[in-house]
This record gives sequence, C-alpha cells and structure tokens, in this order.
Amino acid sequence: MTAFTINGQAVNVATEPDTPLLWVIREHLKLTGTKFGCGIAQCGACTVHVDGEPMRSCQTFLEDVAGRKVTTIEGLSPDSSHPLQRAWIAEQVPQCGYCQSGQIMQAAALLAATPNPTREQIVDHMDGNICRCGTYVRIISAIQRAAREG
Ligand code: FES
Ligand code: FES
Repeated sequence: MTAFTINGQAVNVATEPDTPLLWVIREHLKLTGTKFGCGIAQCGACTVHVDGEPMRSCQTFLEDVAGRKVTTIEGLSPDSSHPLQRAWIAEQVPQCGYCQSGQIMQAAALLAATPNPTREQIVDHMDGNICRCGTYVRIISAIQRAAREG
C-alpha cells in the first residue's frame, strides 16, 4: 500500500511501487482528465502537480509520491473557476483538447510562482508541452489573460 494525497483526499493504493503515477491516477483512481501521450516524458499531456511542482506522471512512479500531495486537473479548482480555466474558455484555446489538461497544469505552476510572467517566461515555461493541433498562440494569450484578470 502506498499512501498519498490526491486533490485533497488521502488515498491508499495497493499496486506495484514502480507503477507509473499516470496509471494510478487513471486506472486506480478513475481520474481520466490526465492524458497519456508519449509515455516518455516528452509531450506534457500527463502533467500533474506533486507538492505544487509540475511533473510528468508517465515517468513519475507510485513510490515517488508516497506521503506527498498530488493535484490533477480535476483538483485544480473545486468548480472549474481557476483563472486559467476561465481564460481557456474565453480564448477558446482547445481544438481536439487532448493536450489541454497538461497545458493548464503546466501553466498553473507558472502562475503560482510568477503571477505576472513576461511573454518570454511563458514561452520558456510551456516549451515542453506539445500540442499537435498547434494551439500555442491561444495558450499564450490565455495565460496572459489569466495573469491579467487573476
Ligand atoms: S505522456 Fe507523459 S510526457 Fe507524454
Ligand atoms: S488541442 Fe489537440 S493536441 Fe492540443
């Protein structure tokens, strides 16, 4: 059994300690907002927060989060009203939507640490999150809007 906290709730998961956190989240805890893209930490679709830091859950393992706090897209806000979620809607960011949970979680870590980032800081921070639909311009606009409107 591995104990940790997910979206504010204490959980105990009984599976192999080297199970990728992504599969624990999706298969054991049934939180399917976090997506599988590449499985090798190269796309960002699986991004969650561990103790507030953005992590690729496909290459983070259950044993790595023992006793720690994990937040997924479902836990970012109790009512989907996080400034980034509101900005994402206002800017109509998603196309297919597949990468977007990871994009928002990556962006949320930026704004938590740097509430008013420059465009360059946004581009640098979001660099590892791939969007096959090419929504990058709208992602930047939405992060700027969230910073502005808080
Ligand atoms: S699925 Fe984890 S980075 Fe691509
Ligand atoms: S919206 Fe389709 S991959 Fe990003």
